[in-house]
Amino acid sequence: MSNESSMEWAPLRSSLGVVKKVDEFCVSLPAPLNLSYWWNFGSLLGLCLSVQILSGLFLSFHYSAHESVAFLSVVHIDRDVNMGWLLRSVHANGASAYFFCIYMHIGRGLYYGSYLHSKVWLSGVALYLVSMGVAFLGYVLPWGQMSFWGATVITNLLTAIPVIGEPIVYWIWGGYGVGGATLTRFYSLHFILPFVVASMVVVHLILLHEKGSSNPLGVSSSTAKIRFHPYYTSKDILGVVVFLALFMGLCLLKPHLLGAPDNFFPANPLSTPAHIQPEWYFLFAYTILRSMPSKPLGVVYMGFSILSLCFFSGYHTSVFQSNCWTPPLKALFWVFVGSLVMLTWLGSKAAEPPYIAWGQFFSVVFILYYPLSLVSAHCWQVLVRGPVESDSSNPRIS
Ligand code: HEM
Repeated sequence: MSNESSMEWAPLRSSLGVVKKVDEFCVSLPAPLNLSYWWNFGSLLGLCLSVQILSGLFLSFHYSAHESVAFLSVVHIDRDVNMGWLLRSVHANGASAYFFCIYMHIGRGLYYGSYLHSKVWLSGVALYLVSMGVAFLGYVLPWGQMSFWGATVITNLLTAIPVIGEPIVYWIWGGYGVGGATLTRFYSLHFILPFVVASMVVVHLILLHEKGSSNPLGVSSSTAKIRFHPYYTSKDILGVVVFLALFMGLCLLKPHLLGAPDNFFPANPLSTPAHIQPEWYFLFAYTILRSMPSKPLGVVYMGFSILSLCFFSGYHTSVFQSNCWTPPLKALFWVFVGSLVMLTWLGSKAAEPPYIAWGQFFSVVFILYYPLSLVSAHCWQVLVRGPVESDSSNPRIS
C-alpha cells in the first residue's frame, strides 16, 4: 500500500480501534454468570455522575459566584429560569442519589469481599474522598445560612493541625473568615473536580477489567462467564429505569425533603443557626467528630473511621471471599450497618444528652467492625472449619 492510501485509511483504522475497545469494555466483555442486583450500583454511579455534570453545567449558565448575589442568583434560577427549579432539584437531590449509590456500592464490596481486588478498591476509596470534597464545595455555593456555617465549621477543622493548621485555614479562606474569596475559589474547584472524578472512574474501570468482576458467591468464575451484552446491559437498564422513577419522584414531589430549611435564609456571618449540620450523607462522620471530647481527637477519629476502608484491601478477614459463607461476619456486617444508621440519625440531633453518649457508643461499634471481623473470622475458621493448611486449599485464590 502506498504511503498516501495508508494515510487515507488511518481514520477508519483508529475508529475501528475505538469500536473494538468499546466492544471489549461493555459488549463482549466476559462477566460472571451470577452477578446480583448489588452489582448494578456501579453503572448507577456512572449515571449519577453524568447527571450531576450535565445539570451542573446548565446551572452554571445562571449562577453567579459573587458573595453579594450568589444567594439571589439561586433564587433567580428557582423562580425565573425556564425549568430552573427542576435543574436545581435534580442537581441537589442528584448529590444525595450519588452518595446513596456510593454507600450501596461500598456495602456490596464489604459484604462480598470485593475489596480483595485491592487496586480497584483503593481507587474507589480515592473516588469516595474526592466526591466528598466536591459535595462539600457544592453545598457552599447557594450561600445560605447552612452553606456559610457548614463551610465555617468544616474548614475550621483544619485548625486541629498543630502550628500550620491556622495559616492553612486562612490560605483556604483567602482572608480571615469564610467570605467572597472563599466562595469564588470553591466555585472554581467545584466546577473542575467532577472532571477529575470522571477521569478517576475511567482508571477504576480499567483496573476492574484487569481481573474482571467478582461475584456474590466469591468463587472463581473463570469457567462460567457470559457476555456483558445483552445479559448485563439489560440488567443495568432495568436498574436505571427503577432508579430514575424513584429519583424523579423525589425531585418532582418532595424536592426539599433532604435539604436544610436554614438554607432558605441568606448567609449571615452575624447570626449562627441553632443547629449546624451537614447533608444526610455526612451525618455519620459528623456524629463521630462530635463524640470526642476535644477537636483534634474528633478530627483524628473521624479521619481514621473513613480511611479505615483502606485496611480491608490490605488484609482479608476470612479464607472465603464472600461473607455469605461465614455467619459471624454476616452478623457483624449488619451490626456495622446498624451503627452507621444510628450515627446518621444521631448527627441530625442536637449535641445534648442522651445523644452524646449514644454517639460515643455507636462510634466505637462502628470503628470496631474491622478488627472484630478479623478476630471472629479467625475464630470461626479455627473452631468450626478447622485450620487452613496451605494457600492451595484456599478457595478464594483461583
Ligand atoms: C464515582 C464513583 C464510582 C463509580 C462510577 C464506580 C463504578 C464502578 C463500576 C461501573 C463497577 C462495575 C460494576 C459493579 O461492580 O458495580 C465498579 C466495581 C467496583 N467498584 Fe466502583 N465505582 C465508584 C466508586 C467506588 C468506591 C467508592 C469503591 C470502594 C470504596 C468502589 C469499589 C469497587 C470495587 C471493589 C469494584 C469491583 C466489584 C466486584 O467485582 O466485586 N467503587 N465500580
